[in-house]
Amino acid sequence: MQGDYEEFFKVFAQVSKAIHSGQNTTEILEHIVENIKAIFGARGCIYWIIDMERATIEAQVSSGFYYHNLSMVNFSELTTIFKTEPGRRTFIEDATSDRRIPVRDSIGKRRVGSIYGMYFDIIGSLGGILAVYFYDQRKLSDKEQDIVNALGEQGAIALQKSLSYDEKMLQNLHQMVEGFALALEAKDENTHGHSVRVARFARAVAVEFGLSAAEAATIHHGGLLHDIGKIGMNDDILKRLGILSRREMDVVKQHPVIGVRIIEPLHFLKDVSPLIRHHHERFDGSGYPDGLKEDRIPLGARILTVCDAFETMLAGRKHFARMSLEDAVVNLREGAGRQFDPALVDALFSAIRKNPETFDLEADDRGLACLANHQKRLQQGPAVRGQLFI
Ligand SMILES: [Fe+2]
Ligand SMILES: [Fe+2]
Repeated sequence: MQGDYEEFFKVFAQVSKAIHSGQNTTEILEHIVENIKAIFGARGCIYWIIDMERATIEAQVSSGFYYHNLSMVNFSELTTIFKTEPGRRTFIEDATSDRRIPVRDSIGKRRVGSIYGMYFDIIGSLGGILAVYFYDQRKLSDKEQDIVNALGEQGAIALQKSLSYDEKMLQNLHQMVEGFALALEAKDENTHGHSVRVARFARAVAVEFGLSAAEAATIHHGGLLHDIGKIGMNDDILKRLGILSRREMDVVKQHPVIGVRIIEPLHFLKDVSPLIRHHHERFDGSGYPDGLKEDRIPLGARILTVCDAFETMLAGRKHFARMSLEDAVVNLREGAGRQFDPALVDALFSAIRKNPETFDLEADDRGLACLANHQKRLQQGPAVRGQLFI
């Protein structure tokens, strides 16, 4: 640094300007890591973007290291080296002997003397780690550390800005597709509101089952879109669900695959695709389209299956009457292990007990009592048998 900070202020001003003029985030981060490397004469500099909730490394921008080497570093190694609390600095004086650094030579243990790093909160569960790697065992002065931190902070601001913009865009896109799906469902009075309720139930079950808010949100989207493949189907067939010929049933059974084909070009829905494809698999492997069994069926799809059936039982269809909560509970319990994942039937029951209003069941005292004591009814068998849920 040679005592003068002219270079730093120049870089800082350039980066701030780039952020405010909306320049590409990767370019801004590249600018930051390249300049830090140059200003300090470092061996290399990396800006990692990590997702604390998913425990993943989302991206890295680097200067001075081969991408191949960086791609070998995993989340747990990284978070062992660097403290991941906002504002916490990490300094490794002797990288060659420090036990936090992995033995293999992925980020140049043999060629790195010391490492300085800093963690920044970005947005949601995303965080950034700016790390500077030196050839020798170098100790940064407080002022030098402040410079690295100031540039790292600028990187975090750039990411915040672009990610919240992306987030907004994504929200708009989701709303658009969901609105489209719901508009199509609205024209059919028979299934009106089905997907919205399935989505609401499924989110509650996901949360009850201990999934993260992000996973529950994906499952909610899956619920809204699960039957989107019925779009192109003949209205006449859909209105006669429950009394279809085998041939007509085969047509209806294509809707999960058609649904996936419809949303395939929309990259932002890629996590929802498997949920749509597999929402008619059965726990015992006798479902469609792939006959997947138990854990092979994505968890979100298993949640949708339970909620889809439950909603259909409670709402009824033109050709089969709605069921009482008591009958629906007994049917679900009977189907546990065959059609449904038993653990998710349990999760649904406890979600209903905790928040009956989520399931529009706050007034159904008799049904709710049955949740606690349905074993006796189970021995008698349900008054109304389970229907085909398609
Ligand atoms: Fe379906
Ligand atoms: Fe459905």
